[in-house]
Amino acid sequence: MENFKVEVDPDGIAVFLFDVPGRTMNTFTGSAVADLDALVARIRDDPAIKGAVLASGKANGFCAGADLGEMGDTAGRPVSGAAREAVLIDSSRMSRALRALETVGKPVAAALEGVALGGGFEFAQAAHRRFAARGLARVGLPEVTIGLLPGAGGTQRTPRLAGVPAALKLMLSGAPIDAETALAQGLVDAVVEPGQTVEAAKRWILDGGEGVQPWDRPGFAMPDGPYTPKGGETFMIAAADLQARHYGNYPARQNIVRCVYEGFGLPMDAALRVEARLFLATQRTPQARAMIRSNFLSKQALAKGSARPQEVAPFKVNKAAVLGAGMMGAGVAYAQARAGIETVLIDVTQEAADRGRSYSQKLVDAAVARGEMSAAAASSFMARIVATPDYSAIAGCDLVVEAVFEDTGLKADVTRRAEAMLEPGTVMASNTSTLPIGVLAQASQRPESFIGIHFFSPVDRMELVEIIVGVQTSRETLAKAMDYCRALKKVPIVVNDSRGFYTSRVFESYSFEGLEMLLEGIAPAIIDNVGRMTGMPRGPLELLDDVAIDLVDRIAGQRRRDLGVNGPLAGPELVLHQMVSAGRLGRKNGVGFYDYPEGGSKRLWSGLAALYPVKVATSSPELVESLKRRLLYRQAVEAARCMDEKVVTAARDADVGAILGWGFAPWTGGPMSLIDTAGVDVFTADCDALALAHGARFAPPPLLRRMAQSRQDFYPSSPEA
Ligand code: NAI
Repeated sequence: MENFKVEVDPDGIAVFLFDVPGRTMNTFTGSAVADLDALVARIRDDPAIKGAVLASGKANGFCAGADLGEMGDTAGRPVSGAAREAVLIDSSRMSRALRALETVGKPVAAALEGVALGGGFEFAQAAHRRFAARGLARVGLPEVTIGLLPGAGGTQRTPRLAGVPAALKLMLSGAPIDAETALAQGLVDAVVEPGQTVEAAKRWILDGGEGVQPWDRPGFAMPDGPYTPKGGETFMIAAADLQARHYGNYPARQNIVRCVYEGFGLPMDAALRVEARLFLATQRTPQARAMIRSNFLSKQALAKGSARPQEVAPFKVNKAAVLGAGMMGAGVAYAQARAGIETVLIDVTQEAADRGRSYSQKLVDAAVARGEMSAAAASSFMARIVATPDYSAIAGCDLVVEAVFEDTGLKADVTRRAEAMLEPGTVMASNTSTLPIGVLAQASQRPESFIGIHFFSPVDRMELVEIIVGVQTSRETLAKAMDYCRALKKVPIVVNDSRGFYTSRVFESYSFEGLEMLLEGIAPAIIDNVGRMTGMPRGPLELLDDVAIDLVDRIAGQRRRDLGVNGPLAGPELVLHQMVSAGRLGRKNGVGFYDYPEGGSKRLWSGLAALYPVKVATSSPELVESLKRRLLYRQAVEAARCMDEKVVTAARDADVGAILGWGFAPWTGGPMSLIDTAGVDVFTADCDALALAHGARFAPPPLLRRMAQSRQDFYPSSPEA
């Protein structure tokens, strides 16, 4: 066995230490799965072995799950006919090995000191007992977050251990749970002190623990099964909830529910065959391919800064300043302090700077109240943030982020004042959301050190950062900005300087398409419902309300002035202007496309129909399909234009930026993945048709035509398996 070390103690207990060579964390690579057969054979055939303990040789956990790099290779590839049976045998290999493990005839226990996720938790579930370390162990089945389902017995053993309600919650949320919660749900059998799990597991074996699973004993009944009141109710709600919240966009979710329902009354061997078929079907959907790629592999690569200029030495930020202690500045200061960076938070008055610092205090206090942070850690956290109006405190900083009002003159002024305090080469970054970096860099004495670091709101929760490279920005500055983002545990995408950069530009196309529909007379309720049906987090109109209509109107006005566009307002820009003129700014003043009655839920503004008369009040499947297509394709074609104009240079950045930045339908894997899944040629032809019907905003850029002609994809293509 390449991935397991085994030691048999004098009592005849074999401890198998899972330790994949050359990795910091265990994953089930093909080689580790292959080792499982040898592991089972050893337990079964070695007469000296009385029982076995499964443990980890890694300091940071038991196992993080399947190796998604390998899995990503076959995901989404269609498979049919005779090939399907051969592929099924291969894809269910781990499931069969784990079934052999739990029927090996000797007691097996798992010792969980850290995370046991996905395939790692399924491995542990095939043991007859699980011992988890207090405060360290976390278990979960996160497959759904990448468009998959647990395919090595998880959909069968989890409900048999924990009952239908807890099992579906674990698998449909994908969120891991701590040892105590797992114990309460029956997913682990004991919680012991850290470092004691192997001993506890051995003790259980020595005390006569039996190597038989509950479901292999006669008369086994699943707790809270589908035909109990609790289990039945969960199924009814789960089916309705999937439709209501996910509109059938995620086959993995439906198939998880199917696995539990179809498998529950069957003997384990048959139940596992049901799961194996549904796993393969799920793994071969375009959604799984797209989600494994964007939501996991690409995101991980970007988080590690894989596109960072390699020739630049690693850069450590010890001290950094934030100019402007408003909403964004306060959030950036918190993120820096959390990363251990000494932070100077500057605003025009001491009072304003203190207000920004108090934002961190609130978050830290809440963490202490939840028991997640000690009082000592809280006070050293807060000691890292110095709030002051005095620019001289910036001296000695390695990096400065400017987050003052969105005003070119003001930004120029603070840039000059900050640079006067800084060593040459110190990174000067702007958090501007709309102003060109090239223009802001004009105020800088050293434009090569000037860069855009665009955070998203709320900074402590949003993972994405859009790094904007100006024409004069040096590669060294880019590398340093990426290292800074990595220290903050953010996921950076790199874009070139241009109007709206990448995220704001493409995001706007979604809300504007909704406004086009409004002008065409489509009922506003239909527009927002269809928006959510595409998998976007909100409909276009409600989203405009949340962002603030006057903000979007101001940005559009600035663009017209910058581009020298004169003449009367028309289209979506006219709608924005009319709404602002009517005093309807969105959620922030309680009236926008919706009314927000105090204590009640929002409802569409009744006056909207007078401004935009409804011509299409009832929907049909055909209408829904055509509107869905417009809302998604409008964004995808704009993203393709960004690729064409080299605003973004990698499909990976475009996809991850879209999903993390504005919640672009995650099931698609992002706009470039959406185009690939449709087929570049098909997408291009569809956009031509949309352009004819609705206008040049759908016209495919030259890049798409070239790609369609030479049969290229944004990602390497997926031949039939
Ligand atoms: P804000 O209005 O909450 O905060 C701006 C702060 O800058 C205020 O506290 C103000 O007192 C301070 N300030 C003004 N002049 C100053 C000076 N000379 N020196 C130091 N501080 C000064 O604004 P917000 O929302 O935090 O935005 C800041 C920047 O971040 C803007 O460029 C905005 O476009 C950008 N941004 C905003 C996002 C958002 O969702 N609000 C998202 C991403 C970027």
